[in-house]
Amino acid sequence: MDKGMTPSDELVDCEKRHLNYLRISITDRCNLRCLYCVPEGRIPKLAHDQVLSYEEILRLVKIGIRLGIRKVRITGGEPLVRKGVVELLGRLTRIRELEDVSLTTNGVLLASNAQRIFDAGIRRINISLDSLDRKKYSQITGYDHFDQVWTGIQRARDIGFGPIKINVVAMRGINDDEIVNFGRLSIDHPFHIRFIEYMPIGNSRTHSRDQTLTPEIQEKIATIGDLSPVENSNHDGPARRYRISGAQGEIGFISALSHHFCSHCNRLRLTADGKLRACLLSDHHEPLKEMLRNGGSDEQLAEIFHAAVRQKAAKHQFRPNGVTNVKAQMQGIGG
Ligand code: 5AD
Ligand code: SF4
Repeated sequence: MDKGMTPSDELVDCEKRHLNYLRISITDRCNLRCLYCVPEGRIPKLAHDQVLSYEEILRLVKIGIRLGIRKVRITGGEPLVRKGVVELLGRLTRIRELEDVSLTTNGVLLASNAQRIFDAGIRRINISLDSLDRKKYSQITGYDHFDQVWTGIQRARDIGFGPIKINVVAMRGINDDEIVNFGRLSIDHPFHIRFIEYMPIGNSRTHSRDQTLTPEIQEKIATIGDLSPVENSNHDGPARRYRISGAQGEIGFISALSHHFCSHCNRLRLTADGKLRACLLSDHHEPLKEMLRNGGSDEQLAEIFHAAVRQKAAKHQFRPNGVTNVKAQMQGIGG
C-alpha cells in the first residue's frame, strides 16, 4: 500500500473484490466499423471538448494509483487514431507504481507505429482480428485493411512485443468456419488467440442468437489437437488459457456469458468522455469530468471512484443467447 493510504482508500467492493485494473478509452473514434460494435447508420461522435485530455487522464490515473490501481490498458474506439497517444503511453509506462500498461488496437495503424509504441515501453498488446480471410475481414469491419493488420501483427512480433494477443469475436454464420484456422495460427506462431463471446451491448448489427459460445468453439479446436490448460498469471484477467500440444502460442476463451467470471472481476472502465463504469454489462456510471473541470480536489475525485465501486453488482444477469438492456455503445467504453 502507498504511504498515506489507508485500507479504506482501496477500491474494494461489496464482494470484497479489489479493483486494481483501470481500462481507459481515449477516444470513441475508430477507423473500422465492426459488425458487433458499430450500429447501423451514422453514429454521433463526441465533440473534442467532451473527450478527456491526456492531462486529465493522467491526473485520474494518479488518483487511481492512490486507490490501488496497478494496471492500466489503453483502448478506444481505436486508440491509435488519437494524436499523441504514443507520448501518453510513454508517460504511463514511466509511472513507477503501475505494474502493467497495455494497449488494445485494431491493428490498422500498427505497422507504422509499432516501433514507437515499443520504445514507449509497451510490451503487451491485444489486436482485434476476426477473420483470416481478406474478403470476410472487409465484410466484418467495413474496410479492406486485412493486409495492413497482418503486416502490423508481424511487425509487432519481429520487434519483440509479447505476448501478442489476437482477439476474435466468434459469430455464427460469419466467422465460425474459421475457428479451426485461428487455432492453427496458434500452432505456427507465438500468438495468443482469444475467442471472445459476443456481448449484446448497444445496438450493434450482430444479434445475440449469432453468439458462438465457448463449449462449441472448444469442441472445434479439439479436432486439431489436444488442449492442455495453461496456468493463469495475474495479468490474464478472465481468459481461460490452453495450449494445443506442440504449439508456439496459446488459445484463450473469454466467456462472459457461458461462464461468468464476475466473481474475480478486478476492472473499472474510464470512458472517453470521462465516466467511470464498474461493469461492462451495466449502464450504471459515475461522471468524473464535471468535477475534474470544475476545480474538484483529488479527494472529491477519489470519492467518485468509490461511488462507482459501490455500484458494482455482484454479477451480471445475462444469459447465453439472451439480450441485454445495456444501451451504451461499445466504442466509447472500449471492450
Ligand atoms: N462483444 C464482445 N467483444 C467485443 N469487442 C467489441 N465489441 C464487442 C462485443 N459486442 C471486443 C473486440 C475488441 C475489443 C476491444 O473488444 O474483440 O478486440
Ligand atoms: Fe473499432 Fe474496435 Fe469497434 Fe471494431 S470493435 S469498430 S475496431 S472500436
